[in-house]
Amino acid sequence: MRYQTIPNSLFIKNRKKFISKIKDNTIAILTSNDIKHTNADDVMGFAQNNDLFYLCGIDQEETIVVLYPDAYKTENREILFIKETNEHIKIWDGEKLTKEQAFKISGIHRVEWVHDFEKTLQSMAFEADGFYLGHNEHIKRVTHNQQTQQDRWINWCKEKYPLHQYYRAAKITRALRTIKSDEEITLIQKAVDISIKGFHRVLKTVKPNCKEYELEAELTYMLIKNGGTRHAFKPIVASGKNACALHYNTNDSICKEGDMILLDFGVCYGNYNSDTTRCIPVNGKFSKRQKEVYSSVLYCLKKGSQLLKPGILPADYEKQMVTLVEEQLIILGLLQASDIANQDPEKPLYKKYFMHGTAHHLGLDVHDVGLYSQVLKPGMVLTCEPGIYIPEEEIGCRLENDYLITETGNINLTQAMPIEINEIEKLINA
Ligand code: GLY
Ligand code: MN
Ligand code: MN
Repeated sequence: MRYQTIPNSLFIKNRKKFISKIKDNTIAILTSNDIKHTNADDVMGFAQNNDLFYLCGIDQEETIVVLYPDAYKTENREILFIKETNEHIKIWDGEKLTKEQAFKISGIHRVEWVHDFEKTLQSMAFEADGFYLGHNEHIKRVTHNQQTQQDRWINWCKEKYPLHQYYRAAKITRALRTIKSDEEITLIQKAVDISIKGFHRVLKTVKPNCKEYELEAELTYMLIKNGGTRHAFKPIVASGKNACALHYNTNDSICKEGDMILLDFGVCYGNYNSDTTRCIPVNGKFSKRQKEVYSSVLYCLKKGSQLLKPGILPADYEKQMVTLVEEQLIILGLLQASDIANQDPEKPLYKKYFMHGTAHHLGLDVHDVGLYSQVLKPGMVLTCEPGIYIPEEEIGCRLENDYLITETGNINLTQAMPIEINEIEKLINA
């Protein structure tokens, strides 16, 4: 692995928390993700299933974790199944995990080959009353037109054991995963630190007429050089009016003299992610108007991030963030207070310039699991990301930091990433 070994105490703790939540005499089965094909024999980069990773730390395809805490045979209480290697795999793909390595990573004593899964389960299934199975339950943007490995296991299991009870493992993992352990915060911080190095490279490289993808390359260089696994998501390097398309990521335009560039980028390190956004002037000096818009967004970030503390409901935070942005839209001359007072509440005017949510959980997923109906608690990590987008002025500005919620407020994990106007100008011109 490119990342430093994660102490298996994390996964042992996670399993302990997970099994404390499952019903009596049930078996939890978590599986890895598929390796997806692009075309011919080429494949996309492998990304592990995050619920499986959370419970065992194994970063390899064809992995299954079985947890049956009430099994009368102690050896059936925790079993890890991994892919058995052979000469062919060794020659073409290199080493796969041995049973000993898999035990060391996960802390699971009983490790079996995955081809023995069905017969091993058979001897346990009739003792049990039900199964917990994994499924992608992300609230937004889940496409259901592709069958995942989890979907296949659900079908297989229900066909084979139709009269057992079935439960959602994700309902448990989404609650557990929102509260980060110290080990997880260390990994998110590492991802942030690599992002900061990438941002410094961008500040050194940017100049009029450079291509957006050249700046993307600097981020990629620093991410790989520092042991990051991959970009947390395809980086957004959006100059001028491109910054007004929220998920622009073709990154193929020329950065013109006088434009501002929005960079929204993150690093995945040890499967944990950072997610940060900065805006910089192509020529090293923000124009008067860019400065005004940037200062407004920075004000909203500073004020809004103070709201991220235990006890606040995400919906109330978002409401207060809207009020902050509205105030700034008036100061910027984009909206009139009187128009806001008379607006149709179904079609608020601010949405013309500010159309997205400004906080999400961050962890194994960039838009991490967690319920937005529940108040924030210590140990959660969230982004804060206000933005103002003015297509008619070819200015789009978003600023995004990552915050760890503490007992009394929060800690800005991205504190060391330059954000003040003077600081950014100075670094570009250094
Ligand atoms: N980069 C996606 C987001 O900020 O949520
Ligand atoms: Mn982002
Ligand atoms: Mn974000």
